Amino acid sequence: MRLNRFLARAGVSSRRGADVVIAAGRVTVNGAVVTDLGTTVDPETDTVAVDGRAVALPESPTYIVLNKPAGYVVTMSDPQGRPTVADLVSGAGKGVVPVGRLDAATEGLLLLTNDGELAYRATHPSFELPKVYEVVARGVLTDEESATLEAGVELDGRLTAQAEVELLSTARHTTLATITIHEGRKRQVRRMFEAVGHPVRNLKRLSVGPLVLADLRPGRWRRLSETEIEALRGALGLTGS
Ligand code: URA
Repeated sequence: MRLNRFLARAGVSSRRGADVVIAAGRVTVNGAVVTDLGTTVDPETDTVAVDGRAVALPESPTYIVLNKPAGYVVTMSDPQGRPTVADLVSGAGKGVVPVGRLDAATEGLLLLTNDGELAYRATHPSFELPKVYEVVARGVLTDEESATLEAGVELDGRLTAQAEVELLSTARHTTLATITIHEGRKRQVRRMFEAVGHPVRNLKRLSVGPLVLADLRPGRWRRLSETEIEALRGALGLTGS
């Protein structure tokens, strides 16, 4: 296996980032510094270290989706002692961490993995994985406001990227809609709906790229199928590596 791939799989950095680390002379294989970007290693027998610290591949990459219930913080440990997603995924696999953010109050699909390169790409803006949210918002969203959300609203001085909104139903004081966004800014959906005057009451993520929540119950997780892993890798430009 090429050394940069090994380092990326071990969660050190992206594969390109690993080349920088190698070129900087920070990597040793069996105790000897290597700077050749074409170096290959045998994960079974070679000892690889970065800055003197041994790094190893995760046992085998693990990919799971969790239906995160509201009230759980997306981190593996919380200094404030709040419930975290780590409480829900014990037994899933070594080194599994959440990919991207989901507010504590938001429920729905959360991908967790110990595949560092895939995690890096899945949160990188250039891959723009579509994320679909079901939104219950206060008030009745008009077609015009819906079009505004789709065209972009200004958050932090920058327009949001094009989004797709589907109005599912409106009652006197409530709107049920889905919104598909291609970014992952902080509290993005909540702030977008606030910007058009309709604070979000309930937010649930239904899908991330090719991964869908389907009938996974809140608080439960499942492993991705080979087909889902391939689809996800394909969406992130990792096919064939
Ligand atoms: N947008 C939000 O506002 N919150 C989330 O958790 C995810 C997207």
